[in-house]
Amino acid sequence: MITLGIESSCDDTSLALVEDGVRIIESLVSSQIEIHRRFGGVVPEVASRKHLEAINPMFDELFEKSGKSISDVSQVAVTAGPGLLGALLVGLSAAKAIAWKLKLPLIPVNHLEAHLSAAFLARIEPPTWPFLGLVVSGGHSNLVIVRGAREFQNLGRTVDDAPGELFDKIARHLDIGYPGGPAIQKVGEHGDPHRYALPRPMAGKGYGFSFSGLKTAVLRVVQQEKEQINLPDLCASLQEAVGDTVIGKIEAALDEFRIGKLVIAGGVAANAVLRKKASDMALKRGVELLIPPLSLCSDNSAMVAANGFFCASCYSRKKTPCTGLQKISDDDESTSIAQGTNPTFTTINSSTSGDQGEINSRGSSNNLDINATAVWAMGQELPK
Ligand code: KG4
Ligand code: ZN
Repeated sequence: MITLGIESSCDDTSLALVEDGVRIIESLVSSQIEIHRRFGGVVPEVASRKHLEAINPMFDELFEKSGKSISDVSQVAVTAGPGLLGALLVGLSAAKAIAWKLKLPLIPVNHLEAHLSAAFLARIEPPTWPFLGLVVSGGHSNLVIVRGAREFQNLGRTVDDAPGELFDKIARHLDIGYPGGPAIQKVGEHGDPHRYALPRPMAGKGYGFSFSGLKTAVLRVVQQEKEQINLPDLCASLQEAVGDTVIGKIEAALDEFRIGKLVIAGGVAANAVLRKKASDMALKRGVELLIPPLSLCSDNSAMVAANGFFCASCYSRKKTPCTGLQKISDDDESTSIAQGTNPTFTTINSSTSGDQGEINSRGSSNNLDINATAVWAMGQELPK
Protein backbone atom coordinates (compact mmCIF):
# COMPACT_ATOMS: atom_id res chain seq x y z
CA MET A 1 0.00 0.00 0.00
CA ILE A 2 1.44 3.37 -1.00
CA THR A 3 1.00 6.39 1.26
CA LEU A 4 1.56 9.89 -0.06
CA GLY A 5 3.15 12.03 2.68
CA ILE A 6 2.99 15.82 2.73
CA GLU A 7 4.96 18.07 5.10
CA SER A 8 4.90 21.89 5.21
CA SER A 9 4.90 22.76 8.92
CA CYS A 10 7.95 25.03 8.91
CA ASP A 11 10.43 25.89 6.17
CA ASP A 12 10.68 22.61 4.25
CA THR A 13 8.16 21.63 1.60
CA SER A 14 8.31 17.88 1.28
CA LEU A 15 6.44 15.15 -0.61
CA ALA A 16 7.08 11.41 -0.42
CA LEU A 17 5.72 8.06 -1.49
CA VAL A 18 6.22 5.33 1.11
CA GLU A 19 5.27 1.69 0.71
CA ASP A 20 3.68 -0.16 3.66
CA GLY A 21 4.93 2.53 6.05
CA VAL A 22 8.54 1.37 5.85
CA ARG A 23 9.98 1.64 2.36
CA ILE A 24 10.69 5.03 0.84
CA ILE A 25 9.89 4.93 -2.88
CA GLU A 26 10.70 8.59 -3.44
CA SER A 27 11.12 11.57 -1.15
CA LEU A 28 11.56 15.20 -2.17
CA VAL A 29 12.47 18.07 0.14
CA SER A 30 12.56 21.68 -0.99
CA SER A 31 14.42 23.67 1.65
CA GLN A 32 13.88 27.39 2.21
CA ILE A 33 17.10 27.81 4.21
CA GLU A 34 18.65 30.19 1.69
CA ILE A 35 15.59 32.44 1.79
CA HIS A 36 15.41 32.66 5.59
CA ARG A 37 19.18 32.84 6.13
CA ARG A 38 19.30 36.60 5.72
CA PHE A 39 16.73 37.00 8.52
CA GLY A 40 18.53 34.57 10.83
CA GLY A 41 15.30 32.61 11.37
CA VAL A 42 12.11 31.43 9.69
CA VAL A 43 9.74 34.24 8.66
CA PRO A 44 6.28 32.61 8.82
CA GLU A 45 4.58 34.64 6.06
CA VAL A 46 7.49 34.12 3.68
CA ALA A 47 7.50 30.40 4.49
CA SER A 48 3.80 30.04 3.57
CA ARG A 49 4.27 31.81 0.24
CA LYS A 50 7.28 29.69 -0.66
CA HIS A 51 5.38 26.49 0.18
CA LEU A 52 2.64 27.65 -2.18
CA GLU A 53 5.11 28.22 -4.99
CA ALA A 54 6.91 24.93 -4.45
CA ILE A 55 4.19 22.39 -3.83
CA ASN A 56 2.49 21.95 -7.21
CA PRO A 57 5.63 21.48 -9.33
CA MET A 58 6.89 19.07 -6.66
CA PHE A 59 3.91 16.76 -7.24
CA ASP A 60 4.84 16.45 -10.91
CA GLU A 61 8.46 15.80 -9.97
CA LEU A 62 7.49 13.20 -7.36
CA PHE A 63 5.55 11.05 -9.80
CA GLU A 64 8.03 11.58 -12.61
CA LYS A 65 10.99 10.49 -10.46
CA SER A 66 9.22 7.61 -8.73
CA GLY A 67 7.78 6.09 -11.89
CA LYS A 68 4.46 5.83 -10.04
CA SER A 69 1.18 7.46 -10.91
CA ILE A 70 -1.29 9.17 -8.61
CA SER A 71 -3.63 6.18 -9.04
CA ASP A 72 -1.04 4.03 -7.23
CA VAL A 73 -1.61 6.07 -4.06
CA SER A 74 -3.94 4.47 -1.48
CA GLN A 75 -4.02 7.18 1.18
CA VAL A 76 -2.76 10.67 1.94
CA ALA A 77 -0.96 11.58 5.18
CA VAL A 78 -0.31 15.22 6.00
CA THR A 79 1.23 17.15 8.89
CA ALA A 80 -1.65 18.90 10.66
CA GLY A 81 0.35 20.40 13.56
CA PRO A 82 2.22 21.61 15.44
CA GLY A 83 3.82 24.17 13.17
CA LEU A 84 3.37 27.55 11.53
CA LEU A 85 -0.33 27.95 10.81
CA GLY A 86 -0.02 29.49 7.34
CA ALA A 87 2.61 26.96 6.35
CA LEU A 88 0.56 24.01 7.62
CA LEU A 89 -2.46 25.20 5.69
CA VAL A 90 -0.63 24.91 2.36
CA GLY A 91 0.13 21.22 2.86
CA LEU A 92 -3.25 20.52 4.39
CA SER A 93 -5.11 22.18 1.53
CA ALA A 94 -3.12 20.23 -1.05
CA ALA A 95 -3.73 16.99 0.83
CA LYS A 96 -7.45 17.65 1.16
CA ALA A 97 -7.75 18.46 -2.53
CA ILE A 98 -6.03 15.23 -3.56
CA ALA A 99 -7.96 13.10 -1.09
CA TRP A 100 -11.24 14.67 -2.17
CA LYS A 101 -10.55 14.33 -5.87
CA LEU A 102 -9.37 10.70 -5.64
CA LYS A 103 -11.74 9.71 -2.82
CA LEU A 104 -8.81 8.58 -0.68
CA PRO A 105 -8.55 8.48 3.11
CA LEU A 106 -6.85 11.54 4.55
CA ILE A 107 -4.74 11.06 7.66
CA PRO A 108 -3.73 14.13 9.68
CA VAL A 109 -0.39 13.51 11.36
CA ASN A 110 1.23 15.07 14.43
CA HIS A 111 4.63 16.42 13.38
CA LEU A 112 6.36 15.28 16.57
CA GLU A 113 5.02 11.74 16.31
CA ALA A 114 6.17 11.72 12.72
CA HIS A 115 9.73 12.63 13.77
CA LEU A 116 9.80 9.53 15.99
CA SER A 117 8.55 7.37 13.11
CA ALA A 118 11.63 8.35 11.08
CA ALA A 119 13.75 6.04 13.25
CA PHE A 120 11.75 2.97 12.17
CA LEU A 121 11.59 4.11 8.58
CA ALA A 122 15.37 4.11 8.55
CA ARG A 123 15.39 0.47 9.68
CA ILE A 124 12.79 -0.47 7.08
CA GLU A 125 10.73 -2.11 9.79
CA PRO A 126 7.47 -1.28 11.58
CA PRO A 127 7.63 0.25 15.06
CA THR A 128 7.60 -1.91 18.17
CA TRP A 129 6.62 -0.60 21.59
CA PRO A 130 7.11 0.57 24.26
CA PHE A 131 9.96 3.00 23.82
CA LEU A 132 11.16 6.23 25.32
CA GLY A 133 11.04 8.98 22.71
CA LEU A 134 12.81 12.31 22.63
CA VAL A 135 12.03 14.85 19.92
CA VAL A 136 14.57 17.66 19.81
CA SER A 137 14.16 20.22 17.04
CA GLY A 138 13.99 23.91 16.29
CA GLY A 139 10.62 24.26 17.96
CA HIS A 140 10.41 21.36 20.38
CA SER A 141 11.97 19.26 23.05
CA ASN A 142 9.53 16.60 24.20
CA LEU A 143 10.24 13.52 26.22
CA VAL A 144 7.50 10.90 25.93
CA ILE A 145 6.86 7.25 26.57
CA VAL A 146 5.31 5.68 23.50
CA ARG A 147 3.29 2.63 24.49
CA GLY A 148 1.69 1.94 21.12
CA ALA A 149 0.38 3.65 18.01
CA ARG A 150 -1.25 6.82 19.33
CA GLU A 151 -0.51 5.92 22.94
CA PHE A 152 1.71 8.53 24.48
CA GLN A 153 2.60 9.52 27.99
CA ASN A 154 4.10 12.98 28.12
CA LEU A 155 6.96 13.22 30.58
CA GLY A 156 8.23 16.71 29.87
CA ARG A 157 8.80 19.43 27.37
CA THR A 158 10.65 22.71 27.21
CA VAL A 159 9.21 25.58 29.19
CA ASP A 160 10.96 28.13 26.96
CA ASP A 161 13.43 27.70 24.09
CA ALA A 162 13.88 24.41 22.23
CA PRO A 163 17.49 23.23 21.78
CA GLY A 164 17.51 23.96 18.04
CA GLU A 165 16.15 27.41 18.78
CA LEU A 166 18.95 27.91 21.32
CA PHE A 167 21.56 26.94 18.72
CA ASP A 168 19.93 29.17 16.10
CA LYS A 169 19.81 32.20 18.41
CA ILE A 170 23.39 31.82 19.62
CA ALA A 171 24.73 31.26 16.11
CA ARG A 172 22.94 34.41 15.00
CA HIS A 173 24.47 36.35 17.90
CA LEU A 174 27.94 35.02 17.09
CA ASP A 175 27.28 35.56 13.39
CA ILE A 176 28.58 32.12 12.46
CA GLY A 177 25.79 30.93 10.16
CA TYR A 178 22.25 29.68 9.76
CA PRO A 179 20.76 27.28 10.70
CA GLY A 180 22.61 27.49 13.99
CA GLY A 181 22.89 23.80 14.91
CA PRO A 182 25.11 22.71 12.02
CA ALA A 183 27.08 25.99 12.26
CA ILE A 184 27.82 25.50 15.96
CA GLN A 185 28.74 21.86 15.37
CA LYS A 186 31.19 22.85 12.63
CA VAL A 187 32.86 25.65 14.61
CA GLY A 188 33.00 23.51 17.76
CA GLU A 189 34.38 20.42 16.06
CA HIS A 190 37.91 20.71 17.47
CA GLY A 191 37.05 22.89 20.46
CA ASP A 192 37.54 22.03 24.13
CA PRO A 193 34.10 21.08 25.52
CA HIS A 194 35.24 21.79 29.10
CA ARG A 195 36.77 25.22 28.53
CA TYR A 196 33.67 27.22 29.53
CA ALA A 197 31.59 26.16 32.53
CA LEU A 198 28.00 26.31 31.33
CA PRO A 199 24.94 25.23 33.34
CA ARG A 200 23.03 21.97 32.82
CA PRO A 201 19.55 23.50 33.18
CA MET A 202 16.98 21.79 35.41
CA ALA A 203 19.30 18.86 36.01
CA GLY A 204 17.68 16.44 38.46
CA LYS A 205 14.44 18.43 38.46
CA GLY A 206 11.88 16.29 36.69
CA TYR A 207 11.51 15.87 32.96
CA GLY A 208 10.97 19.46 31.86
CA PHE A 209 13.57 21.30 29.81
CA SER A 210 14.58 24.96 29.88
CA PHE A 211 17.23 26.30 27.54
CA SER A 212 16.85 30.05 27.84
CA GLY A 213 19.09 30.23 30.96
CA LEU A 214 21.79 28.42 29.02
CA LYS A 215 21.43 31.00 26.27
CA THR A 216 21.90 33.81 28.82
CA ALA A 217 24.95 32.03 30.26
CA VAL A 218 26.56 31.80 26.81
CA LEU A 219 25.84 35.45 26.05
CA ARG A 220 27.40 36.41 29.40
CA VAL A 221 30.57 34.50 28.53
CA VAL A 222 30.68 36.32 25.18
CA GLN A 223 30.28 39.68 26.93
CA GLN A 224 32.92 38.94 29.56
CA GLU A 225 35.53 37.45 27.27
CA LYS A 226 35.18 39.98 24.46
CA GLU A 227 38.05 39.53 21.95
CA GLN A 228 39.56 36.79 24.11
CA ILE A 229 36.64 34.49 23.33
CA ASN A 230 37.58 31.17 21.85
CA LEU A 231 34.66 30.34 19.55
CA PRO A 232 35.52 26.66 18.92
CA ASP A 233 35.76 26.10 22.69
CA LEU A 234 32.52 28.00 23.31
CA CYS A 235 30.62 26.02 20.65
CA ALA A 236 32.05 22.75 21.95
CA SER A 237 31.12 23.69 25.55
CA LEU A 238 27.59 24.61 24.48
CA GLN A 239 27.02 21.30 22.69
CA GLU A 240 28.43 19.49 25.70
CA ALA A 241 25.98 21.29 28.00
CA VAL A 242 22.98 20.55 25.76
CA GLY A 243 24.07 16.93 25.33
CA ASP A 244 24.57 16.39 29.08
CA THR A 245 21.22 18.01 29.86
CA VAL A 246 19.29 15.90 27.39
CA ILE A 247 21.07 12.64 28.25
CA GLY A 248 20.56 13.32 31.98
CA LYS A 249 16.77 13.50 31.50
CA ILE A 250 16.79 10.40 29.34
CA GLU A 251 18.76 8.42 31.92
CA ALA A 252 16.38 9.47 34.68
CA ALA A 253 13.41 8.30 32.59
CA LEU A 254 15.11 5.01 31.69
CA ASP A 255 15.73 4.41 35.40
CA GLU A 256 12.22 5.32 36.48
CA PHE A 257 10.26 3.55 33.76
CA ARG A 258 12.64 0.67 33.03
CA ILE A 259 12.29 0.89 29.27
CA GLY A 260 14.82 -0.89 27.09
CA LYS A 261 14.38 1.07 23.89
CA LEU A 262 15.12 4.70 23.11
CA VAL A 263 14.32 6.80 20.03
CA ILE A 264 15.89 10.24 19.56
CA ALA A 265 14.60 12.25 16.59
CA GLY A 266 14.15 15.76 15.20
CA GLY A 267 16.61 18.20 13.62
CA VAL A 268 18.88 18.39 16.69
CA ALA A 269 19.23 14.58 16.66
CA ALA A 270 21.62 15.24 13.76
CA ASN A 271 24.07 16.73 16.25
CA ALA A 272 27.26 14.66 16.36
CA VAL A 273 27.97 15.36 20.05
CA LEU A 274 24.46 14.32 21.08
CA ARG A 275 24.60 11.21 18.89
CA LYS A 276 27.92 10.16 20.42
CA LYS A 277 26.73 10.76 23.98
CA ALA A 278 23.50 8.86 23.29
CA SER A 279 25.24 5.87 21.77
CA ASP A 280 27.83 5.72 24.61
CA MET A 281 25.05 5.88 27.19
CA ALA A 282 22.93 3.26 25.38
CA LEU A 283 25.90 0.93 25.07
CA LYS A 284 26.76 1.31 28.75
CA ARG A 285 23.18 0.59 29.81
CA GLY A 286 22.38 -2.08 27.25
CA VAL A 287 19.56 0.02 25.84
CA GLU A 288 18.51 -0.33 22.20
CA LEU A 289 19.00 3.07 20.55
CA LEU A 290 17.35 4.24 17.34
CA ILE A 291 18.35 7.58 15.82
CA PRO A 292 17.36 8.34 12.21
CA PRO A 293 20.14 8.94 9.69
CA LEU A 294 20.96 12.61 9.14
CA SER A 295 18.71 12.83 6.08
CA LEU A 296 15.67 11.79 8.13
CA CYS A 297 16.38 13.91 11.25
CA SER A 298 15.25 17.21 9.80
CA ASP A 299 11.74 17.80 8.49
CA ASN A 300 10.65 15.41 5.73
CA SER A 301 7.45 13.88 4.46
CA ALA A 302 8.61 10.25 4.42
CA MET A 303 8.26 10.27 8.21
CA VAL A 304 4.77 11.75 7.82
CA ALA A 305 3.75 9.00 5.41
CA ALA A 306 5.20 6.34 7.73
CA ASN A 307 3.38 7.72 10.76
CA GLY A 308 0.17 8.11 8.77
CA PHE A 309 0.37 4.50 7.61
CA PHE A 310 0.69 3.14 11.15
CA CYS A 311 -1.97 5.52 12.40
CA ALA A 312 -4.38 4.28 9.75
CA SER A 313 -3.51 0.62 10.44
CA CYS A 314 -4.17 1.22 14.11
CA TYR A 315 -7.52 2.81 13.24
CA SER A 316 -8.65 -0.05 11.08
CA ARG A 317 -7.58 -2.59 13.71
CA LYS A 318 -8.90 -0.95 16.83
CA LYS A 319 -11.55 1.32 15.33
CA THR A 320 -10.30 4.05 17.63
CA PRO A 321 -10.41 7.54 16.14
CA CYS A 322 -7.27 8.18 14.23
CA THR A 323 -6.96 11.92 14.15
CA GLY A 324 -3.21 11.97 14.50
CA LEU A 325 -3.77 14.41 17.33
CA GLN A 326 -5.51 12.22 19.80
CA LYS A 327 -5.72 13.20 23.42
CA ILE A 328 -4.02 11.04 25.99
CA SER A 329 -5.80 10.00 29.16
CA ASP A 330 -6.62 12.60 31.80
CA ASP A 331 -4.22 10.94 34.18
CA ASP A 332 -1.32 11.36 31.83
CA GLU A 333 -2.27 14.94 31.19
CA SER A 334 -2.46 15.83 34.86
CA THR A 335 0.90 14.16 35.42
CA SER A 336 2.41 16.40 32.82
CA ILE A 337 0.83 19.50 34.27
CA ALA A 338 1.88 18.55 37.78
CA GLN A 339 5.47 18.39 36.61
CA GLY A 340 5.19 21.89 35.30
CA THR A 341 5.12 20.80 31.72
CA ASN A 342 2.57 21.40 29.04
CA PRO A 343 1.15 18.29 27.40
CA THR A 344 0.98 19.85 23.98
CA PHE A 345 2.38 16.71 22.36
CA THR A 346 -1.08 15.23 22.14
CA THR A 347 -3.55 17.70 23.58
CA ILE A 348 -4.86 18.85 20.24
CA ASN A 349 -7.76 16.58 19.43
CA SER A 350 -10.54 16.47 16.95
CA SER A 351 -13.08 17.85 19.39
CA THR A 352 -11.22 21.00 20.38
CA SER A 353 -12.11 24.20 18.67
CA GLY A 354 -8.63 25.47 18.15
CA ASP A 355 -8.46 28.11 20.84
CA GLN A 356 -5.73 26.60 22.99
CA GLY A 357 -2.88 27.22 20.64
CA GLU A 358 0.37 28.30 22.09
CA ILE A 359 2.69 30.58 20.22
CA ASN A 360 6.35 29.82 20.78
CA SER A 361 9.24 32.07 20.03
CA ARG A 362 9.48 30.81 16.47
CA GLY A 363 5.99 32.15 15.97
CA SER A 364 4.57 28.68 15.51
CA SER A 365 1.30 27.55 16.93
CA ASN A 366 0.87 24.19 18.56
CA ASN A 367 -2.73 24.09 17.62
CA LEU A 368 -4.83 24.09 14.52
CA ASP A 369 -8.51 23.49 14.20
CA ILE A 370 -8.64 20.46 12.01
CA ASN A 371 -12.14 19.29 12.78
CA ALA A 372 -13.03 18.88 9.14
CA THR A 373 -9.82 17.01 8.44
CA ALA A 374 -10.31 14.70 11.39
CA VAL A 375 -13.84 13.91 10.25
CA TRP A 376 -12.53 12.93 6.85
CA ALA A 377 -9.88 10.77 8.41
CA MET A 378 -12.55 8.91 10.29
CA GLY A 379 -14.19 7.95 7.05
CA GLN A 380 -17.17 10.25 7.02
CA GLU A 381 -18.64 12.14 4.10
CA LEU A 382 -16.57 14.93 2.64
CA PRO A 383 -18.13 18.37 2.87
CA LYS A 384 -19.86 19.34 -0.38
O1 KG4 B 1 13.24 19.11 12.95
P1 KG4 B 1 13.70 20.34 12.24
O2 KG4 B 1 14.19 20.20 10.83
O3 KG4 B 1 12.57 21.43 12.23
C1 KG4 B 1 11.71 21.64 13.29
O4 KG4 B 1 10.71 20.87 13.39
O5 KG4 B 1 12.03 22.54 14.10
O6 KG4 B 1 14.84 20.99 13.15
C2 KG4 B 1 15.53 22.14 12.78
C3 KG4 B 1 16.49 22.49 13.88
C4 KG4 B 1 17.19 23.83 13.69
O7 KG4 B 1 17.04 24.60 14.87
C5 KG4 B 1 18.65 23.43 13.46
O8 KG4 B 1 19.56 24.40 13.96
C6 KG4 B 1 18.74 22.14 14.21
O9 KG4 B 1 17.51 21.49 13.97
N1 KG4 B 1 19.84 21.30 13.72
C7 KG4 B 1 20.91 20.93 14.45
C8 KG4 B 1 21.77 20.20 13.59
N2 KG4 B 1 21.17 20.13 12.37
C9 KG4 B 1 19.99 20.80 12.46
N3 KG4 B 1 21.21 21.18 15.74
C10 KG4 B 1 22.38 20.70 16.19
N4 KG4 B 1 23.26 20.02 15.43
C11 KG4 B 1 23.00 19.73 14.13
N5 KG4 B 1 23.88 19.05 13.40
ZN1 ZN C 1 10.44 19.04 12.78
